[in-house]
Amino acid sequence: MTDRQPLVAGNWKMNGSRASVRSLLDGLCRGVPENGVEVLVCAPFIHIPLAAELLAGSAIGLGAQTVSEYGNGAYTGEISTDMLKDYGCGYVIIGHSERRHILGETNETVARKFRHARDSGLQVILCLGERLEEREAGMTEQVLSEQLDAVIAAAGMECFSGAVIAYEPVWAIGTGRTATPEQAQAAHSFIRLQVARHDDRIADGLRILYGGSVKADNAAGLFAMADVDGGLIGGASLKVDDFLAICQSIG
Ligand code: PGA
Repeated sequence: MTDRQPLVAGNWKMNGSRASVRSLLDGLCRGVPENGVEVLVCAPFIHIPLAAELLAGSAIGLGAQTVSEYGNGAYTGEISTDMLKDYGCGYVIIGHSERRHILGETNETVARKFRHARDSGLQVILCLGERLEEREAGMTEQVLSEQLDAVIAAAGMECFSGAVIAYEPVWAIGTGRTATPEQAQAAHSFIRLQVARHDDRIADGLRILYGGSVKADNAAGLFAMADVDGGLIGGASLKVDDFLAICQSIG
């Protein structure tokens, strides 16, 4: 790994109660390692105020899992970047495959959200990843480039300065079927090269996380790869010991 600071982000998805958020964050705050890894939890909107309160003064950052592409106003049911910042959220996940494939977000929606979030000063974790049938048809690189190019076209390369990308093969998410370290490395280095075609410096500093069934027992192998700068963790981020073990296995 170069001098890119490793990042481990928990994606709680649509899980948690006030009681479980309290006990999870209490455990994480007590055990967060001081090994140079940046640690972040991405909570459902409704838990953000409580999480912000519990994380105040801790080394753990707070993020959301999506955000509106619009500024404050008449958009019933939406949550704006201003609201997230007001509650101390520094990060937002954009383009998670569950939002693309279950909730209908297109490459263009993802690109608009990415641009709006970056323009508002939020750090973005942009998710990219192919489905099983696309991998089996040999289309992984094509899918990754299309997803990435849509965002570069809409937002411009400068928006990637300081941004984070998460490579999450859809077939590995929540399935227990993790990409091998070699498969992850191949996709990550492909993504970095695509960015480098536009801007070498940004590509070099870009943190690329792997996501998809990362667990305490497979994290170290994935994180050891040259272009894997950390992880985006779903299921295992809901358990204190598992998430802390993943954070500890970096570096
Ligand atoms: P998983 O989810 O770790 O439960 O596979 C990862 C993600 O969807 O971000």
